[in-house]
Amino acid sequence: MRPARPAFIAAQALTPFIGKGSPNFIAKGHPDYGVKENPTLEDHIATVIRQLLDDNGIDPSLIQRGYIGNFAGELFSSQGFLGAMLARADERLAGIGCARVEAACASGGVGIVGAIEAVQAGLDVVLVVGAEVQTTVRAREGANYLARAAHYASERSIDDFTFPALLARRAKAYKETYGLTDRDLAHFSVKAYANANRNPLAHMHTVKMTLDQAATASDSNPNILQNPELHEHLRVSDCSQVSDGAAAVIIASETGLERLGRAPQDCVQLKSYGFCTNPLGQVNDLLRLDTAASAAAEAMQDGGITPQDVQLAEVHDCFTIAELMMYEAIGFAEPGKGIDLLRSGDTSLEGSMPVNPGGGLVGFGHPVGATGVKQAAEVYRQMKGVCGDYQIQKDIHTGLTANMGGDDRTVVSLVLENVE
Ligand code: CAA
Repeated sequence: MRPARPAFIAAQALTPFIGKGSPNFIAKGHPDYGVKENPTLEDHIATVIRQLLDDNGIDPSLIQRGYIGNFAGELFSSQGFLGAMLARADERLAGIGCARVEAACASGGVGIVGAIEAVQAGLDVVLVVGAEVQTTVRAREGANYLARAAHYASERSIDDFTFPALLARRAKAYKETYGLTDRDLAHFSVKAYANANRNPLAHMHTVKMTLDQAATASDSNPNILQNPELHEHLRVSDCSQVSDGAAAVIIASETGLERLGRAPQDCVQLKSYGFCTNPLGQVNDLLRLDTAASAAAEAMQDGGITPQDVQLAEVHDCFTIAELMMYEAIGFAEPGKGIDLLRSGDTSLEGSMPVNPGGGLVGFGHPVGATGVKQAAEVYRQMKGVCGDYQIQKDIHTGLTANMGGDDRTVVSLVLENVE
C-alpha cells in the first residue's frame, strides 16, 4: 500500500531492552537483587510514553488515537486490556481512543499499519507503543507461552522450545539443500553481538561473541533442543533474547506535523507498506519466508523501489537462520546465496547496506510486542544521526523493515524515506 495521505514518523522513543545477561537487569549477583524489582510491563509502557512526549516536546492533547502492540501480557504479566493501560500509564492520554493490537511478534508492525490507516481515515496524530515483559518466568515456561504464536494443537509438541525448534527445522532443511554450515550461521551471531556491543540500549551490550564460540556447541553455548532431529541445528547463540522493553512512535499526517510544530528534518516518511498473513501451522516451503517475500514485495513495489535501492534494513532475526532467509525473501540475495551476502560484509555496520546495525533481535533483544515499533524507530534514529557509537557513517535516504509474526505467518514491511 502507498498511503494516499502522506504519513510520517514525527518522533520516537525506546527504553533499554533488558533481560538475563544485561548489566541493568536485576538478577542473582546484581547489587539490587532482593532490594529492587525489575520494571513491570506497566513501568515500561509509562517510561516510553514519558520519553516520547517529554523528550520530543509532544503535546499529548494533539494525539487522537493510540495503539499498543503486545503479544502475551496476560501470560507473562497477568494483564490484558492494554489500551486502557496506555491511559493509566500516562494520564495525559485519558479520554483518547486506545486499543491493543496483537499479531504475535508482528504486533508492533501491525500497530504501525493501524496508525497509517487511521491517518488515511482522516486522523492527524496517532501514537503507537510496542511493549513486552517476558522475564517473569523461566525461559522454558516462556517458550510455552510463545508457542501460542504457533498452531498450538499441532506444533507445540515439536519441542519444549517450540519456536527455536520451528526455526531449527528451517535451518536443517536449508543446510541439507544448500550446504550451509554451523560456522556460516555463527557469522550472523557475531555480527549481531558486535553491533549490540556498540549500542547501550541493547540487551547484549556487554556480552562478547567470537566466531569460534558461536560456531561450536559448549557448556556456555549449548544445543538446547531435545527433539533429536533438530538438536544439533540450534545453539543458544542462534537465538534472539528473552527481553523486556518498549518502543514508541508518533505517526502524523502533514496537518499533524504542522500542529505538532515538527520541522520536515525531524520526520521520516512512511512511503509504503506491505502486510500479509498466511494460515497458522501451514508452512509450505521450509527454505523460504513466503509471507515475508510477499509483504516486502508489496512494500517495495508500492514505494517504487527495488531491493538495490535499500540503504539500511531492519529485519526480523528471531534466530540466525531467519536473518539469512530474510535476505533472500526481500531480494537482497538469490535463493541459497544469503550467506554470500553476509560474508561480503555489505550488511555489516560499515557495509554498503547495513542490516540490523543496533544488533537485531539476537543482539539488541526481542521484547516481542515492541520489536516492530523498534525497527521503525531504529530506521528513524539512523536517518537522523542519533545512534552514537553504532551510527552508520553515511547519509541514509531509504530504509526497509520486515517484522515477522509466528513462523512467517504475518509480516509487516515498511519502506521509509528520510525527509531532508
Ligand atoms: N547443556 C544442555 N542444556 C542446557 C545447558 C547445557 N550446558 N544449559 C542450559 N541448557 C538447557 C536447559 O535445559 C535449560 O532449561 P531449564 O531452565 O529447564 O533447565 C535451557 O537450556 C535454557 O537455559 P537457560 O535458562 O540457562 O537459558 P537462558 O535463560 O539464557 O535462555 C534461550 C536461552 C532458551 C535460548 C532463550 O534466550 C530463548 O528462549 N530465546 C528464544 C526466544 C524466542 O523464542 N522468542 C520468540 C522468537 S519467534 C518470533 O519472533 C516469532 C513469534 O511470533 C513468536
